[in-house]
Amino acid sequence: MKAVAVAPGKVILYGEHFVVYNVPAIVMAIDKLVKVSASPREDGSLRICSDLGFACTYEDSEVKPLMGGRKATKFLEPVRIAAKTVLEHFEEKKGLSIDICSTIPSSVGLGSSGAISVATVAATSKILGHELDREQIWRFSLQAERHVHVNPSGIDPLVSTYGGLLVWRIQDDSKPKKINRDIEIIVGNTGIQRSTGKFVSIVGRKKAKRVEGISQLMGVMSWISNLALKAFREMDLATLGALMNMNHELLKVIGVSHESLDRLVEATRKAGALGSKLTGGGGGGCMISLATSNKKAAVCKAIEESGGQPILVRKHNAGVRVWLTKS
Ligand code: MEV
Repeated sequence: MKAVAVAPGKVILYGEHFVVYNVPAIVMAIDKLVKVSASPREDGSLRICSDLGFACTYEDSEVKPLMGGRKATKFLEPVRIAAKTVLEHFEEKKGLSIDICSTIPSSVGLGSSGAISVATVAATSKILGHELDREQIWRFSLQAERHVHVNPSGIDPLVSTYGGLLVWRIQDDSKPKKINRDIEIIVGNTGIQRSTGKFVSIVGRKKAKRVEGISQLMGVMSWISNLALKAFREMDLATLGALMNMNHELLKVIGVSHESLDRLVEATRKAGALGSKLTGGGGGGCMISLATSNKKAAVCKAIEESGGQPILVRKHNAGVRVWLTKS
């Protein structure tokens, strides 16, 4: 018997980084998924294996990389934390095999680590015979997220847990509001992998030093997110695009963009996108564009010609799902 959990990745449409400081953000779960399965092991150890070529076993306090060397230990650490959080919460000492299969490119801002943590928590609790509600899944996966993003807002595991198009701010706790609208987004992947935690820390230091204008920027970002929410109600795509452009400029000012992102943003705007911005932690990774149907092909071509990989993504409504299977 094994438990299988599937969870979606995400694109942040408005408000990354600012969301850490209680600014509302708008985020969409996407149709790129991770699958995590958990099955019992007789030998009492924890074994984690990822289709990226990483595997480790954990016995007592000893870690043994089986595949991928030290990189494996680093990559799989949040997964170990997610599984251990559940095991310890239920005071279980059972051995487990955890297998990860992902269609979300990793370390490029599309929420792969959040989705893996969420699916790991859901699969681990299910195979141990415990039902967690969505709020508990989110809270447990936050432990792993703290390891990856240092001081995360929690928005990545939140959207992987609940799915859909959401507006959320930290003070809402685990209560996101769903926006019942559909939208197709063009992602441009620069292919530059980077650590979101590093960029969250850079912004944190600027905030702590009260760098001039930073608190005013928080106000501007709140205003952008609130206007975007209104534009979603009216499905005013032109305004949604213009607000993405403004959001990108704010992200540049706080120092989280990258020349590769700015290049794709510029090229897609020239190709007729209604708006473009970086998405996620920045510093490389991915950008997004909003475009009308007749401009989508030109926008994808512009991404390719500027050295990026275009990926069309749609909303994934379901959030995390988990079930038991014999095979
Ligand atoms: C990362 O996807 C989003 C950030 O705002 C970090 C966070 O909110 O945890 C950059």
